[in-house]
Amino acid sequence: MSDLFDFDAQVDRYAVMGNPIAHSQSPRIHARFAAQTGQRLDYSAIQVDLGGFSQAVGNFVASRGKGLNITVPFKQEAFMRVTQRTPRAERAGAVNTIKIDKKNLLGDTTDGVGLVTDLIHNHGLSLRQRRILLMGAGGAARGVIEPLMQQKPDYLVIANRTPDKAVALAQLFSDLGTIHGSGYEQLADQQFDLVINATAASLQGEMPELPDECLVEGACCYDMMYGKVTQFMHWAGVHGAGLVVDGLGMLVEQAAESFYLWRGVRPHTAPVIQALRDLNTASRLG
Ligand code: ATR
Repeated sequence: MSDLFDFDAQVDRYAVMGNPIAHSQSPRIHARFAAQTGQRLDYSAIQVDLGGFSQAVGNFVASRGKGLNITVPFKQEAFMRVTQRTPRAERAGAVNTIKIDKKNLLGDTTDGVGLVTDLIHNHGLSLRQRRILLMGAGGAARGVIEPLMQQKPDYLVIANRTPDKAVALAQLFSDLGTIHGSGYEQLADQQFDLVINATAASLQGEMPELPDECLVEGACCYDMMYGKVTQFMHWAGVHGAGLVVDGLGMLVEQAAESFYLWRGVRPHTAPVIQALRDLNTASRLG
């Protein structure tokens, strides 16, 4: 068959794998990036059974797929499955992006850079010499510590419901600057310029037990969740925050970083973030 007739077979295939996956915005985001940059590619969402991750990746590689995004609950399994890792993925202990080159699977993590890009470029913040509180000590928190510390904050406090986990995480990253781990009660006399919610509390309609006085006036409160006003965002609004942000920008920025890794082209994120916000508003009103 001539190249002319074999065109569709040459469309590079990408996908996001997770469980559940139906809610994923990634196909929509990458379709917009592709249209905007003139890249011909196909991006789909694949629901993977628990226990079936390695096989699913093998099948995708065999079908000559070019790249994957990995979401909950497979980011640690992806870390184990790849053949090579970027230094930042190594440090985060998780992989959310895989670049496939024949049998070589390069694992990267773009979540942390997504968060920092959203804070700095989309919301105009500087993190230099700021006092930052990161709530949570699971995978979501771990993935953002290195990029946050690269911004040279004054210090970072990691607080967690189970304090030992926060202390262990702070220890693990202690070479990057001043990082303390603690429970929420120990925050009573402290104040922060930026508070980031990386806990799963918002999923249960809850929030960590933050002391009332822990924000400086005009502080920024950032919830990694998106799609609704969380308990924490509501709390922030009535406790002196000057800026309250959800995680939609982080979602689009991490996708842009994955797209760049795969295609070598940086898409414009602002119109995509706006389009998703408009869709979200429309679906809430509809
Ligand atoms: P992820 O990979 O999304 O970070 P995880 O590893 O299960 O998920 O971690 C969830 C985080 O949210 C943990 O820090 C957890 O605190 P514990 O380590 O004490 O379990 C935190 N978390 C979950 N529900 C919470 C709640 N209702 N209040 C405060 N923290 C909560």
